[in-house]
Amino acid sequence: MTVGIDDIEAAYRRLQPVLKPTPIQRSATLSRMLEAEVLIKPENLQKTGSFKIRGAYNRVMALTAEQKRHGVVAASAGNHGQALSYAATAAGISATIVMPETAAIAKVEATRAYGQTVMLRGVNYQQARSAAEQLCADTGATFVDAYDDPFVIAGQGTVGLEIAREDADAVIVPVGGGGLIAGVAVAMAARSPRTAIIGAEAAGSPQLSASLRRGAPSAIDRPVDTIADGLATGRLGVLPFELIRARLHDVATVDDFEIGEAVLLMLERMKLLTEGAGAAALAAALKLKSQLKGRRVILLISGGNIDINLLDRIIGHGLVKAGRLYRVCVTLADRPAELSRLLALIGKLGANVRAIDHDRTQRGVAIGAALVELELETRGIDHIGSIRAELTRHGYKIEDED
Ligand SMILES: Cc1ncc(COP(=O)(O)O)c(C=O)c1O
Repeated sequence: MTVGIDDIEAAYRRLQPVLKPTPIQRSATLSRMLEAEVLIKPENLQKTGSFKIRGAYNRVMALTAEQKRHGVVAASAGNHGQALSYAATAAGISATIVMPETAAIAKVEATRAYGQTVMLRGVNYQQARSAAEQLCADTGATFVDAYDDPFVIAGQGTVGLEIAREDADAVIVPVGGGGLIAGVAVAMAARSPRTAIIGAEAAGSPQLSASLRRGAPSAIDRPVDTIADGLATGRLGVLPFELIRARLHDVATVDDFEIGEAVLLMLERMKLLTEGAGAAALAAALKLKSQLKGRRVILLISGGNIDINLLDRIIGHGLVKAGRLYRVCVTLADRPAELSRLLALIGKLGANVRAIDHDRTQRGVAIGAALVELELETRGIDHIGSIRAELTRHGYKIEDED
């Protein structure tokens, strides 16, 4: 079983009724930052919030009439499940998406909202998958793998057809199980063979580099751990590996801090909401900056379904790193008006108080003193430096955590 350009073209024809155009855009900001010509392909704006609809819908539409009657099943707590639910509803067939009992309520609801059944089984992906396979054995439904399936890969490859028109020097593609990069690599090999294919993987789930090292599709022998849940498959697909091994130019492995920064950049500079996997190509481009300098590069922004609590944490980290959020602890004399004197100074220094905690009974705080913890909105690292200097000059003792 393999996938060729004809399969991808057939998928493209099938997908026409459901695909949303996600026009490739040049980013002046990212081009300046990377000293390259940077284009983005925003599949976070695709139907269901990711490119996954392409593979899922192509798989569903390629089923025989008999298979359609029995419906489809997937195991997924993420974008594949949502996409298959949407695709099955659009095609008028039934689907059951099996998710672990630990799946986020928002994802369960989103998948249900596309019109199909969600079944909660097991406490992790593997247990949900076993339950899904059992369901297929019992009902005759077709199991739809998220990446190790030729129709799914051909569907994902349709992004490659759209990208190939740009005649770029390189395209950076996020990699989980490898279905997306495999489809894109096949399309580009036929339509834009000079474009280098670069994979972006998460350091907490590095199955692509592990597979390349071993020369065979491999699984990670430790628990996966990354904020880019779309990339956290822990293993590379067999068919994706075969399709990419000779076509891959390079791989960049990016950690959660780099991914988080890329999510923030996309949000702040591009006004685009992306999930960790969705911003991984940008994180990889920042890492490969010297290699990409002066080149025309496309970043495949693959999805935007991020949990809002995670987004909140990413924003918090980003603000602290950029010096725009500063937590500081100072001791002051426990006397009337001391706190207002401190706050007046902070105000004069141009920082905005976001939260304040005043404690005089904590261990280690002298009788007659109070510990004040402030969370301040600041204007950057230099601003924090001048706040610290002024606090010290006015006699406040800064309690640094060490
Ligand atoms: C947003 C997003 N990007 C990238 C990927 C990786 O795709 P693949 O598993 O085909 O490599 C996924 C997979 O779920 C995803 O949801």
